[in-house]
Amino acid sequence: MKAPFKVVALLSIFAGIAGVSLMAQAQPNQVAYPEGYRDWTHVKSMVIQKGHPLENPFQGIHHVYANPKAEKGLKTGTFANGSVLVFDLLKAQDAGAALVEGPRKLVGVMKKDKKQFASTGGWGFEGFAGDSSTKRLVKDGGQGCYQCHTSQEKKDFVFSTYRK
Ligand code: HEC
Repeated sequence: MKAPFKVVALLSIFAGIAGVSLMAQAQPNQVAYPEGYRDWTHVKSMVIQKGHPLENPFQGIHHVYANPKAEKGLKTGTFANGSVLVFDLLKAQDAGAALVEGPRKLVGVMKKDKKQFASTGGWGFEGFAGDSSTKRLVKDGGQGCYQCHTSQEKKDFVFSTYRK
């Protein structure tokens, strides 16, 4: 009788460890923090100034990055599941006759998964505050982000286009 008890005890310890490590990862229908995106393809940059319709919350300098699948999507017009686009937003600071990057305001992410994110055009939307990889900003399942991105439905909800 002793041995099976040990097995059960061990199994429940492993289940506990697995449970804890799952909790640290993104929950189902959440977009994971895009680790390493600064090594991806830089798609474009833009400065949004005061008075622009996107001023709140996107005022500042942003850079758009694409992982390899998203880069292919930008070039072909079809984004495969697993495509990730990042909107890296930094404060734009006045430095004489120049605008320079200030602290990071947020990291916006779009991840393609047709099934998982079917209610928002097949894209999962998330924002991470400042330099945090855990402080999530999207509280409505991405509907607010999606509503604005629907204007780009013909381009699979993506605004950016790839330039050489
Ligand atoms: C009011 C409109 C609007 C809303 C709301 C909005 N976006 Fe965007 N988003 C844009 C525009 C415009 C661009 C293109 C910026 C550029 O050309 O550099 C963009 C670009 C992006 C990109 C780069 C890929 C692309 O489509 O060009 C990501 C990633 C992104 N947004 C994520 C988000 C997330 C996450 C949210 C919600 C937290 C969000 N967006 C909400 C207008 C919006």
